[in-house]
Amino acid sequence: MAAVLLGLLLFAMQSPLVPSRPMADEGPPPPSTSSPTDNGTTSHPNGTLQQLPQIIIIGVRKGGTRALIEMLSLHSTVAAAQNEVHFFDWESHFQKGLPWYLSQMPYAFPDQLTVEKTPAYFTSSKVPKRIHHMNRDIKLLLILRDPTERVLSDYTQVFYNRLQKHKRYQPIESVLVKDGEINLGYKALNRSLYYVHMQNWLQYFPLGSIHVVDGDELIRDPFPEMKKVERFLKLEPQINASNFYFNKTKGFYCLRDHGRERCLHDSKGRAHPHVAPAILQKLYQFFHEPNKKFFELVGRTFNWK
Ligand code: A3P
Repeated sequence: MAAVLLGLLLFAMQSPLVPSRPMADEGPPPPSTSSPTDNGTTSHPNGTLQQLPQIIIIGVRKGGTRALIEMLSLHSTVAAAQNEVHFFDWESHFQKGLPWYLSQMPYAFPDQLTVEKTPAYFTSSKVPKRIHHMNRDIKLLLILRDPTERVLSDYTQVFYNRLQKHKRYQPIESVLVKDGEINLGYKALNRSLYYVHMQNWLQYFPLGSIHVVDGDELIRDPFPEMKKVERFLKLEPQINASNFYFNKTKGFYCLRDHGRERCLHDSKGRAHPHVAPAILQKLYQFFHEPNKKFFELVGRTFNWK
């Protein structure tokens, strides 16, 4: 207990307190009282069925994937899997086959589209081929944010996970820098090299099948970003501005659904640690070229530092 408190104290000392935010992660899957059919669905007596997803949120980790799936769930014709399924990236799951994957999906009405999100898919090189093999026409959503911000968010998540498990952690600057240079061995940096991973996806899917959501914009003003998502998915326009309200305490937009208001879990929107400006500059420089390559790949620019 003392170690946890000490850890939080040290983290607070390295981080100026920026407001934190939410998540509604990971409840149990619905009980399975149904029978499999031969058309890739599993039906239930009340007329709902489990179906393979027509939409997958493939990442990126810490890009805002939870916010995106929660906001998409505002739409009445979307049924979202609660858990991160990790079917295509974890061998132990993948080997169980599509019937197992199907069993992880929510019960949906026949006119609903099913969506799952597993942020690790984007950076796992074997995943695009596997998804393509399941459904070459699937619609993919990829939410990205400033690569440097994403690295800080990634560090923060690991920091809290380790703290909870009473494990040791390193201060952020010693993770980011080695011998005075950016530490290329730090895995979180690789996850922010978006063009590397995107190239892999584009070997299997046309650009038109992958909609990139601007995660920084989704934080700043979610409504216009969600309208773009609705259009990409060819959903009847339903999500509207009144579905979002800014929560000053949280410092983020929260959701309003049929009068019910909710914010994401406290683990979403946490304070990031303070990083010396000189190191931040190095990070911005490090990502400059990779970002340009990504913009060329997708034919679009983003407002990243
Ligand atoms: P931080 O916690 O670092 O701020 P993911 O769900 O993929 O793990 O992404 C988490 C990030 O979603 C958070 O990172 C936060 O910045 C971002 N986010 C976007 N919209 C949000 C919202 N409305 N509420 C909370 N977090 C949001």
